[in-house]
Amino acid sequence: MAKPCLTAMVVAALALVASAVTLARAEADDPEKVDAWFTRLSHAERKTTRLHFYFHDTLSGKNPTAVRVAEATMTEKSPTLFGLVNMIDDPLTEGPEPESPLVGRAQGFYASAGLESLGLHMNVNLIFISPEYNGSTLSILGHNPALETYREMPIIGGTGVFRLASGVATAKTYFFNLTTGDAIVEYKVIAMHY
Ligand SMILES: *[C@@H]1O[C@H](CO)[C@@H](O)[C@H](O)[C@H]1NC(C)=O
Ligand SMILES: *[C@@H]1O[C@H](CO)[C@@H](O)[C@H](O)[C@H]1NC(C)=O
Repeated sequence: MAKPCLTAMVVAALALVASAVTLARAEADDPEKVDAWFTRLSHAERKTTRLHFYFHDTLSGKNPTAVRVAEATMTEKSPTLFGLVNMIDDPLTEGPEPESPLVGRAQGFYASAGLESLGLHMNVNLIFISPEYNGSTLSILGHNPALETYREMPIIGGTGVFRLASGVATAKTYFFNLTTGDAIVEYKVIAMHY
């Protein structure tokens, strides 16, 4: 009777593996599916998606979502904070209030790259959790002159429903605390994708 027992164990083990695979697929397609998607691409229509959300960059308090990971060692402190790097995992919400429904997170870093004037180098992935875009991402890579009213940054790619995305993100500061550096920034994104 040892054999059926072993078979049952193997079946159970396979079931475990299968459920792990199913879970993985909920997040991203396997390479064959991605390949098949590209094969059908010549018949696909380009779509345009507009997104509007608020980005909460919190440096202060017990639970900061932006932390300093590097800064320059200079004899004089740079007025533009040149050399500073902050790693972020900032919540993105529907409205400007921190309690507003969460639509995703902005993960990545921004670095102070301007010597003469404040200019942030943004290297940020927007990871959406709202039902229609759950698990899909958009990547921002660009120049953010944070003291200007409107900052335009390139959307350089995406995943999930945003595969092959290109577009523009426009940021406008909604709230800024000069003491703490905490900021709430309004983002409008227009992306073309398939
Ligand atoms: C988003 O996907 C995750 C796992 O992929 C799931 O746990 C979650 O319930 C989904 N959320 C929505 C709003 O669909
Ligand atoms: C800015 O932060 C400081 C320190 O937490 C706080 O005392 C002050 O009220 C804040 N200002 C605004 C406008 O929220």
